[in-house]
Amino acid sequence: MKPVLKWAGNKHRLAEQISDAFAGPCEGTYFEPFLGSGAVFLARRAAGEVGEAVLSDFNPKLVQVHVQIRDALDDVLAELDKLPKDDWRERYYEMRDAFNAGPHAGPAHAARFLWLNRAGFNGLYRENRKGLFNVPVGRYKSLNFPAEERFRRVSELLQGTDLRVGSFEDTMKLAGKRDQVYCDPPYVPLNVTAAFTAYCKAPFGLKQQQDLALLSQKAAWRGARVVLSNHDLPLVRHELYPESGGFQHFARPHVARAISRRVQSRKAVQEIIALIGPIVTAA
Ligand SMILES: C[S@@+](CC[C@H](N)C(=O)[O-])C[C@H]1O[C@@H](n2cnc3c(N)ncnc32)[C@H](O)[C@@H]1O
Repeated sequence: MKPVLKWAGNKHRLAEQISDAFAGPCEGTYFEPFLGSGAVFLARRAAGEVGEAVLSDFNPKLVQVHVQIRDALDDVLAELDKLPKDDWRERYYEMRDAFNAGPHAGPAHAARFLWLNRAGFNGLYRENRKGLFNVPVGRYKSLNFPAEERFRRVSELLQGTDLRVGSFEDTMKLAGKRDQVYCDPPYVPLNVTAAFTAYCKAPFGLKQQQDLALLSQKAAWRGARVVLSNHDLPLVRHELYPESGGFQHFARPHVARAISRRVQSRKAVQEIIALIGPIVTAA
């Protein structure tokens, strides 16, 4: 089930492999603390592998889009229909200003977010230090949105979910016995220039990566299964998610990333899927 949002680092193509790492449906609550476009949740719920779900992200403007698609889809589609179509390119910066002026809640906000997501450069979401969305206009021939049926299906799949704004720490702490957690954090950069950590105001540095690994171990000790994605670097494989710490390395998919403006610097990078828990001790 393809998400309606474009999102840098989205896992639409890897959803099946990630799902396989869980080795079965979620019997408890499914947690996704780095929701983004929700590609993995949507795929797993469409496949009947997830019932109760807590979905969260640090970006309140993004979470509000999912909330509106879940609760007020007709209003969102009606608002989207009012936004520029043929003259989208000329009106892009006017629309961006309107989005930044807010409010950042309700169907009109969701429609503006969805519009910018399709009209902006490569579907990127990036804010400046003042918290203003600053992605330039996209280089598309025409402005295209997902079909209404896709919106309706995504809305159906989101029904009954607990959508929250928050840091991964808050969500990870809730996971326990029989629960499953999928973590897709901003990746450890391949090198400084390739870093892509500006999803929102707070940076995601080594300290956060270490905290995430520790919280994953703790959740596994409480009886949860945690699956994590990241770049396949020695730091990730041997220091953050080491086998000696209870982590298994499930797969090493190859994914071409298209997050650079310069086509020649787009390259295939290796990713890792790590898995931990549930850790059961002998009675
Ligand atoms: C790689 S994206 C997730 C992509 C998602 N799996 C998908 O398929 O679209 C990482 C997400 O983490 C969020 N994020 C960044 N820092 C965070 C934090 N400290 N706590 C929670 N979410 C955070 C970003 O807003 C972004 O949506």
